[in-house]
Amino acid sequence: MNQIEALFNTSGDIQYSGEGVSQLEHALQTATLALEAQASTELVTAALLHDLGHLLNKKGETPSAHGIDDQHQFFAAHFLKDFFPASVCSPIRLHVDAKRALCALDHHYYEKLSEDSKRSLTLQGGIFSESELDNFLNTPYSKDAIELRRWDDMAKTPGKKTLPLHYFLDRASAIIL
Ligand SMILES: [Fe+2]
Repeated sequence: MNQIEALFNTSGDIQYSGEGVSQLEHALQTATLALEAQASTELVTAALLHDLGHLLNKKGETPSAHGIDDQHQFFAAHFLKDFFPASVCSPIRLHVDAKRALCALDHHYYEKLSEDSKRSLTLQGGIFSESELDNFLNTPYSKDAIELRRWDDMAKTPGKKTLPLHYFLDRASAIIL
């Protein structure tokens, strides 16, 4: 928990690519939306930590603009796997694939993505084909990843009030392995 807190304290002010919020604000807004939806502590924690990979594998401002997929979902899931259950780590690992799935399920979803998110989608493998979508929906925790993705997409409001980091870290401590 100390390492996570230190990462947010030292790198949380990095801007979320192409949006008017920092990484810490984005994390807190995503977790607050999960809390408001009465999600489990595991999924609230996944919401808080889903983009931790951006802080673990820094690729500078807007890596997608330079043709780089930072693979942040894998960096975060790998970092967390010894400390949190699969109900936290799997939705994090799958939240990029959830975007690929939602684009296949709902054309309007794609249209509403930010420019950066559309660009990174291509680098992340693009919209799922029918068989890829089928496969994804049969993967454990894919439904949680889709819920997480919806909150993720909404968590980009400059200046929005949220609960503080220590509130979510305290909750997360309760589910450490
Ligand atoms: Fe995110």
